[in-house]
Amino acid sequence: MQSDFWLERWRTGQLGRHREDVNPALVRHWPSVGLDPASKVLVPLCGKTRDMAWLAHAGHEVLGCELSAIAAREFFTDSNLLPHSRREGRFVRHRGGSVTILEGDVFDLDQSALAGIGGVYDRGALVALPPDMRRRYAAVLARMLPPGVRTLLLTLEYDQSRIAGPPFSVPEAEVHELYSGQEIGKLFTEDTTEAPPRFAAAGLGGPDRPVRQKVWRIVPRTDRHGTPVRSRTQSTIP
Ligand SMILES: C[S@@+](CC[C@H](N)C(=O)[O-])C[C@H]1O[C@@H](n2cnc3c(N)ncnc32)[C@H](O)[C@@H]1O
Repeated sequence: MQSDFWLERWRTGQLGRHREDVNPALVRHWPSVGLDPASKVLVPLCGKTRDMAWLAHAGHEVLGCELSAIAAREFFTDSNLLPHSRREGRFVRHRGGSVTILEGDVFDLDQSALAGIGGVYDRGALVALPPDMRRRYAAVLARMLPPGVRTLLLTLEYDQSRIAGPPFSVPEAEVHELYSGQEIGKLFTEDTTEAPPRFAAAGLGGPDRPVRQKVWRIVPRTDRHGTPVRSRTQSTIP
C-alpha cells in the first residue's frame, strides 16, 4: 500500500468519515493491557482517531504517527487544540495537550522517536497493510520500541478471496507469527457490523461469511526475575 494511496484518500475526503466516537473495544479492553497511566502510548497509523483523546484523558502521553497532514490537522481541530508544529528530521511533529502526532511514515520511526513508549494501541494499523508490509511493520516496531512494551491490537478476519483490502484480513496464525516471542492473548472475538459497505456487496458479513473483529493483548514474556525478555525473532527487518 503506497503512501500516495492514503494521501489521496485523505485529500478526497474518503477517510473523513472515520468514527467520531471512541472505539468501544478500546474502552472495554484497555484496562486488560495493564499499563500504568503514566506510560506513554504509541498509536501507529493514527489517522484522526478520537481514541487518542480518550487515551490522553486516561492520563497517557500519546504519540500518534500518521502520513497525512490533513488527518493530523483535523485531529487537533476536532479536539479544540492549536498544535505547535515543527519539522524534525523526516517528520513534522505536531503537539497539542498531551497528544503528539508525528506526521510521516511509520517505517521511518527510530529508537529516539519511540523512546519512553510503554504501550501500543493498534486499531486500523496492522489491518491497513498488505502482508509484506505487515511483516515489515511488526519488525520495525519490535526493533525500535523499548523493551517491555504492552500492546492492544485489533484485527479483522474474513474471507480475503472475496475482496481486496484495506482493511485486510489478518489470520490468527499471522498474529502469532508477527508477535512471536511475546505473550499473546486473545481477549475477545465478535462478528462486526462495522465492515465497509463494499464488504456486504461482496457477500461478506452474514453468518456464513462473517467478518470477525479480534482483540489481542500482547505483552512481553518475562524472565524469572520479572524482567521483560526482548524477542529475538523480530529483530530483523525483511
Ligand atoms: C485505516 S486508517 C486507520 C486510522 C486510525 N487508526 C483509526 O482507527 O481510525 C489507516 C491510516 O494509516 C495511515 N497510514 C497508512 N500508511 C502509513 C504509513 N506508512 N505511515 C503512517 N501512516 C500511514 C493512513 O493515512 C490512514 O490514516
